[in-house]
Amino acid sequence: MKYSLFKVKPFSQLMQEAKSDSAGLKRALSATNLIFLGIGAIIGAGIFVLTGEVSANYSGPAIVLSFLVAAVACACAGLCYAELTSMIPISGSAYTYAYATLGELFGWMIGWLLIVEYLFAASTVSVGWSGYVVSLLRDVGTNGIHLPAALTTAPIIYDEASNGFIRSVGGIVNLPAIFIVFLLTIILVVGVKESARFNNIIVFIKVTVILIFIIAGVWFISTANWHPFIPENTGKFGQFGFSGILRGAAVIFFAYIGFDAVSTAAQESKNPQRDLPIGILGSLLICTILYILVALVLTGIVSYTQLGVPDPIAVGVDAMNNNFARTFLAPLIKLGAVAGLSSVILVMLLGQPRIFMTMSKDGLLPPIFSKIHPKFKTPYMSTIIVGIVAMVLAGLFPIGVLSKLVSLGTLLAFASVCLAILILRKKQPDTPRPFRTPFTPWVPLFGIISCLGVTMFLNIYAWITMAIWLSIGLIVYFTYGMRHSTLNKATNG
Ligand code: ALA
Repeated sequence: MKYSLFKVKPFSQLMQEAKSDSAGLKRALSATNLIFLGIGAIIGAGIFVLTGEVSANYSGPAIVLSFLVAAVACACAGLCYAELTSMIPISGSAYTYAYATLGELFGWMIGWLLIVEYLFAASTVSVGWSGYVVSLLRDVGTNGIHLPAALTTAPIIYDEASNGFIRSVGGIVNLPAIFIVFLLTIILVVGVKESARFNNIIVFIKVTVILIFIIAGVWFISTANWHPFIPENTGKFGQFGFSGILRGAAVIFFAYIGFDAVSTAAQESKNPQRDLPIGILGSLLICTILYILVALVLTGIVSYTQLGVPDPIAVGVDAMNNNFARTFLAPLIKLGAVAGLSSVILVMLLGQPRIFMTMSKDGLLPPIFSKIHPKFKTPYMSTIIVGIVAMVLAGLFPIGVLSKLVSLGTLLAFASVCLAILILRKKQPDTPRPFRTPFTPWVPLFGIISCLGVTMFLNIYAWITMAIWLSIGLIVYFTYGMRHSTLNKATNG
């Protein structure tokens, strides 16, 4: 039997799949829904949590520049995503593009990487959600509601400070994290329109909260906090100075992850070829502007040295030191964070089953993953399986390592998408492209270099865990995918 691991999925077949009946899914999403979906996935733990770590430890006020560096890498990838998704509007996202350009094995491996981006991100962010909810409940009434720590903490944590040591912290299970994944999974099974509506509401809340913070904060900026704008390097690589800005960019990159999730809704979009690029680029642009404003205001209100906390925006509100901020803004910020994190989890849990669905149709995953609910028109089995795995991860597993993996997996997937543009421009020069990446080949080339460059600033443990994860992916492919691939069956009769 002849089998080529590098056989690419024929372009004609992809076009046919894209034009067919949208795989039984419901075409319900407008351009605005797609922009909201993008913002829903983007604004979350990055801005509400990581801004603190990055400005206090790596960049200082120059976190603004770290945000810009990460934005440039994302903009290149975003432009490439926009071209590919307008050309091949199929829910498999980067997996589909890699299958069409680099062949089955690479396609599978990129699909395997996307699990790290979507499923692991959903679990990681739900743990952050749990932290914020516990803290919000503590503020309720005069005495507050106190949930027992054993039921809000995973049994083990990953302790990066002790070089990847995993230790017990006395927790049993993180119930709030399981609860939010459970709730969102149900909404996602019931319908994409319902999910989009729910997403629109929470996106509205979180963007409003961020705008209020920016507008209120401007009055409390003391320009002295911006001096020095780029604190001097401490002598250690990545601690302030130029290397600190880059290290900061690698960590804060997490804040931008999610705009690509728009492409997984390709088969549920009303007018995919026009609206998907709008959704991807629109959400990325809006979030970049918001992030830079938040970073400027935050480091202008408080000295960056005080921001090394899990709730940096709350520290910014405290520093405003007035009644309005204390009584109104402080709880509002927590509410905004809870809303922000909810929509990230929602969109990640929406994207993953759709990628699995596409992989299953290609025979690389079992058929159960492509079952569509007769009434709700959603990939319900895939959604439920993803929900269950995300619940187990969120409730029981050490999350520290997963979050670094999320960034690494996403950066590698972005680089592959930029590469796909270069290959397809050569192989399919005449296929209609409703959106064209400008300045090709420079934008895709710069995208590849910047995404791979940023990966160099992530720690070694993320790379080791990634190597293990990819090895598991290879085993799954050779024991299942390769034997069931529909492309392979078609080739061999
Ligand atoms: N960009 C998403 C967040 O910051 C993953 O939570």
